[in-house]
Amino acid sequence: MTKDSPGFACSDCGAASAKWIGRCPDCGAWNSYVASAPAPKRSRVVSGGRSRPVTSVEESEVPRLATGLFDFDRVLGGGLVPGSLVLIGGEPGIGKSTLLLQVARGCAGSREKILYVSGEESLPQVRLRAGRLDALAESLHVLGETDPETAIGEASALSPALVIVDSIQSMAAANLPSPAGSVAQVRNAALLFQRYAREEDVPVVLIGHVTKDGTLAGPKALEHLVDAVISFEGDRSRGRRILRATKNRFGPIEEIALYEMTSGGLSEIADPSRALLAERRAGMAGSAVSASVEGTRPLLVEIQALVGPAVSGSPRRSAVGLDAGRLAMVLAVLEACAGAPVSAREIFVSCAGGLDVREPAADLALAAAILSSFRQAPLPADAFYFGEIGLLGEVRSVPDAGARLREGVAHGFRRVFLPRSDAGCAAEFPDLRVVPVSDVRELGEAKK
Ligand code: TYD
Ligand code: MG
Repeated sequence: MTKDSPGFACSDCGAASAKWIGRCPDCGAWNSYVASAPAPKRSRVVSGGRSRPVTSVEESEVPRLATGLFDFDRVLGGGLVPGSLVLIGGEPGIGKSTLLLQVARGCAGSREKILYVSGEESLPQVRLRAGRLDALAESLHVLGETDPETAIGEASALSPALVIVDSIQSMAAANLPSPAGSVAQVRNAALLFQRYAREEDVPVVLIGHVTKDGTLAGPKALEHLVDAVISFEGDRSRGRRILRATKNRFGPIEEIALYEMTSGGLSEIADPSRALLAERRAGMAGSAVSASVEGTRPLLVEIQALVGPAVSGSPRRSAVGLDAGRLAMVLAVLEACAGAPVSAREIFVSCAGGLDVREPAADLALAAAILSSFRQAPLPADAFYFGEIGLLGEVRSVPDAGARLREGVAHGFRRVFLPRSDAGCAAEFPDLRVVPVSDVRELGEAKK
């Protein structure tokens, strides 16, 4: 029997035969022969042998372009990858053009040519800003252009180490009927820049405006198309800005960097925990410090709670910089397990300092702050908290307990309330008073 012919095969040992046989001559099994399906015909002859063990593939050491802004490079995962397309999104006026001019300055400092395509501001405006930011370098080239193909033609002729497009919404191709800023124009321009980036192996950074209500087309439509999405957020009135990688094919996500907007542009905040706790009024009821981890970075943040008097009807709940769903869950658990009748109270909570903390590890500090305000009993000023709360009131372990403890100790805290299962990590800090918590009930009973 040939390999491809239909026939019979032993269901025990796989031996094949052109006709049915009662007992397998190979393994001796009785009645084991069943009709076998013909092997599929190969539609195409391939040579084979091209796959290989993953370990034999050489690592490609792509040299990344350092932008000179240490924290920005860290958020990117170690600088800009040649050939990649990066989107920086943020509200108008948050400081995107400022940041990218500073990036251009950092790269231009390494004598590489940088092309800054301005579709929004006139060249004299760009020059004025570059002057304020100390970015007047010969190697920084500026181009006032809104046609993506013309901009790409200029880039190909210049062959820069980096192209910055400010902004993707201002780019409009004449051959498309839709207006600048429409999804069709934005997508078309992004695809053209993507092709340029890939073909010439040059990183391209696109600036995209996003509004709070998401009315402007753009960044959302581009997220799947680009290699990295960096969002630029912050509290405009206070000058603090947060860069966060929400998508990154070349590095970790949720990595953040903190900046301060000054008269000389954006400056990196070297010790974010200190900056975030600078205005804390320790010893006030309703304030708890949480050791949080954003990306790979531990951060201390102040969680504040204000529990108002009971009201008739539905009481107000507000969470600023914290997850409203987790607030509702923590309140329900406090009511059910810790004997705190909070459901009729108005409750406001916030993460002070303009940061958004979404991780469940902030639950314990949130619960402590709410209980503290509810009882008008301040928490110990030298204490910090971390731990996830489960629906039954149990306090669960969280990742990176060691990094959280180190950050708290480095900032002078002497007491930690943490999940009992993470208490072992505290052994390396002999001066730290460790209060293991296995249930929120214990939080209510913990000694001051
Ligand atoms: P901008 O970068 O133009 O924001 P975007 O490109 O996101 O729209 O700058 C935003 C604000 O920053 C602007 O109101 C002025 C302020 N700013 C400073 O405070 N210091 C500076 O050095 C610069 C250049 C801008
Ligand atoms: Mg701008």
